[in-house]
Amino acid sequence: MSGTNGYKKSGVDQPIGIFDSGIGGLTVLREVYSELPAEDIVYFGDTAHLPYGTKSKETITKFSIDNVKFLQGFGTKIVIVACNTASSLSLDELKKRFSFPIIGVIDPGAKQAMQATKNGRIGIIGTKATIGSGSYEASLKRLDKSVKVFSEACPLFVPFVEEGWLDGEVVSKVAETYLEPLKNFKIDTLILGCTHYPLLTRIIRKTMGDSVRLVNSAEETAKEARSLLERLKLKAPKEKSRTDTRFYVSDEPEQFRTFGERFLARPIQSVAKVGDTRIVRNRSSR
Ligand code: DGL
Repeated sequence: MSGTNGYKKSGVDQPIGIFDSGIGGLTVLREVYSELPAEDIVYFGDTAHLPYGTKSKETITKFSIDNVKFLQGFGTKIVIVACNTASSLSLDELKKRFSFPIIGVIDPGAKQAMQATKNGRIGIIGTKATIGSGSYEASLKRLDKSVKVFSEACPLFVPFVEEGWLDGEVVSKVAETYLEPLKNFKIDTLILGCTHYPLLTRIIRKTMGDSVRLVNSAEETAKEARSLLERLKLKAPKEKSRTDTRFYVSDEPEQFRTFGERFLARPIQSVAKVGDTRIVRNRSSR
């Protein structure tokens, strides 16, 4: 059966697939949980290849294709590319290759930033690959050619978050060094263009000041997923109860589970390593 957009329709009961280079995409999953409470979800974290943010377009695209193929095996009705770097560099190729809808985080984040800005001066922070791709800038300019865009790669933020360094003198100093130029450009809106950065909201807000609106792409992406499912008549009915999210990784399931709970702000029951029968379970559920 073919949908109105030419997409092959699968049933409302089919899961949503979400992938990221690792745990960062759980910030998107968190928003999907609140926006789409009845949906079953399969999450894949490509932890064997993390980080994506320092890699080439060719490599990131190859990983992303493999990730979508893996999720496709679950009969996913849509896939969300929850990684800013993968969305920036591989989304166009993914859309060409797969017949079901695939959405990324860039356009939703840009849309939200355009709604937030009053002075038309928007900052973007992200990984080197995301900033180098110019994806957010292109998306913002598609919405309004006159918008002024200022970008800064903040490569040290990802390892800080992964290490749980969300505050303190060192993080503050690094944040000031990265963000000072953006402050000087008098932006009134800043896109947190990386899955990890919402966890640094406190320090980024302290550095930028309260007058700068921080945009988390994850929120708008979840809203876009909801309206896409509604449009395609694929949204799970409210009365359905969600089954436990299935988490898969390509390496280190236990590490994913422990760190992931911090990102998700809730317990993760079990994580399976792809190609391995071993499943890591939360101690409380053993
Ligand atoms: N998930 C990546 C992003 O949002 C950050 C981590 C990485 O570099 O893989 O850009």
